[in-house]
Amino acid sequence: MPHSITSEKGSEPGLPQATFRFRCIGCGALGHAAAQDFRCSQCGNLLEITDPSWKSASLPAAALKSLWRERRSSHLPLDLSGVWRFRELLPKPQSEQLVITLHEGNTPLYDLPQSSHSTGIARLYAKHQGMNPTGSFKDTGMTVASTFARQAGYRWVACASTGNTSASMAAYTARGGMRSLVLVPEGKISWSKLSQALDYGALTCQLRTDFDGCLRLLQELVRRAPVYQLNSINPFRLEGQKTLAFELLEQLDWQPPDHIIVPGGNLGNSSAIGKALLEMLDLGLIPRLPKLSVIQAEGANALVRTLREAGGKHLVSVQAETRATAIRIGNPASWEKAVRVFHATGGACEQVSELEIAQAKAEIGAEGIGCEPASAVTLAGLKKLLRQRFVKPEETVVLVLTGNLLKDPDFTMEFHRGDLFKGTAHQQESARLNPFRHPPVVLDATLDAVIKTLEQAEKSEPMHSND
Ligand code: F0G
Repeated sequence: MPHSITSEKGSEPGLPQATFRFRCIGCGALGHAAAQDFRCSQCGNLLEITDPSWKSASLPAAALKSLWRERRSSHLPLDLSGVWRFRELLPKPQSEQLVITLHEGNTPLYDLPQSSHSTGIARLYAKHQGMNPTGSFKDTGMTVASTFARQAGYRWVACASTGNTSASMAAYTARGGMRSLVLVPEGKISWSKLSQALDYGALTCQLRTDFDGCLRLLQELVRRAPVYQLNSINPFRLEGQKTLAFELLEQLDWQPPDHIIVPGGNLGNSSAIGKALLEMLDLGLIPRLPKLSVIQAEGANALVRTLREAGGKHLVSVQAETRATAIRIGNPASWEKAVRVFHATGGACEQVSELEIAQAKAEIGAEGIGCEPASAVTLAGLKKLLRQRFVKPEETVVLVLTGNLLKDPDFTMEFHRGDLFKGTAHQQESARLNPFRHPPVVLDATLDAVIKTLEQAEKSEPMHSND
């Protein structure tokens, strides 16, 4: 049974007639429709969504802010979504009934007292997108893109994924009464993400290739079969993901932080956040731009190399390898969009090692919030940017945590048991992470044994320090 939105009689007006256009980020061509592969029919570059009504018909900045704030106390289904609450700056579906929502967004902005202390950054926050309905930031984009898939009348949707996109797509399209096809690299995604897709009813194919191979195959598939592509190359996804920035700025009372730090994989999310920041500046919602920095794993550092070795002019793809499987991507589809926002906001692009990721993940866990490995690159990257003096202790910094701790329990268990780097080149060096490990203790079921263990633990302080 599709989950749809209905507006109550006498409530504020619903969604007006669509006024948005697709615009090619390369040649600037504008169109009302997009091809199946979401590429420009003239030059082959990626498309983005633009809407003149965002500027012309939009309320003044102060009125928009108060309208969005008022909606926080509304019980209308559209307002309960942390995405559609900002609908004045989103593409508009033909009717509210088409909207598929699981009340996504509305994610917390946490302070990080222990990391603040160890880095010396007093105003350090984590925007935790892992608190979305399926446990990752993908839900904010999926509510919009799945809605437009339904509007276009598709029966089948599909994605290639490192796990989170597929979990999110499967959930939203199940709610919307569509069928979904998932292409994932066999053995390279976490069981918890795979199990979500299964439970939500997706047709799940584990392909004997990597993520990049899955994506290539998907792009061929959508040219041949009436299947709607829900990867982040689909510009509707990025429109929904923009709302992370709207919500974050609202939580900061519209005072822009100095830095926003985000993990980089296929580079859709950094592109979306950058687009939102530029639109907010253009509409007078914020007085200046935060610097948007992108952090990658050393073993999956295509954007880092693209900027360093090719000046951002062409993509330097890599054979990706990292235990942060969500960002194990060597040929990122949205690299050109990411390069643009990177230049526009003046951010940095850095890479971090497997050990740095594991330590940062344990430190975010020790704050009582946790995240998946890919999200932890943000804290690891922040430490590097601090050492380079790109970030200064007196500045305000927001880390975007993209996925929930429970997304990759194998990584967490292996880390705490001391097995994560066994048999790898990092084995010896990984001993320095021992103070961050909290392995489970197996005991005889006696009071004596438990008290002895408690006394031992009392002698050792929990570790939380940055190098
Ligand atoms: N963090 C997590 C938890 C992710 O799942 C992803 C991407 C990223 C960061 C990187 O975001 O691709 O927009 O740069 N996951 C993909 C997936 C690609 O299929 O779930 P990006």
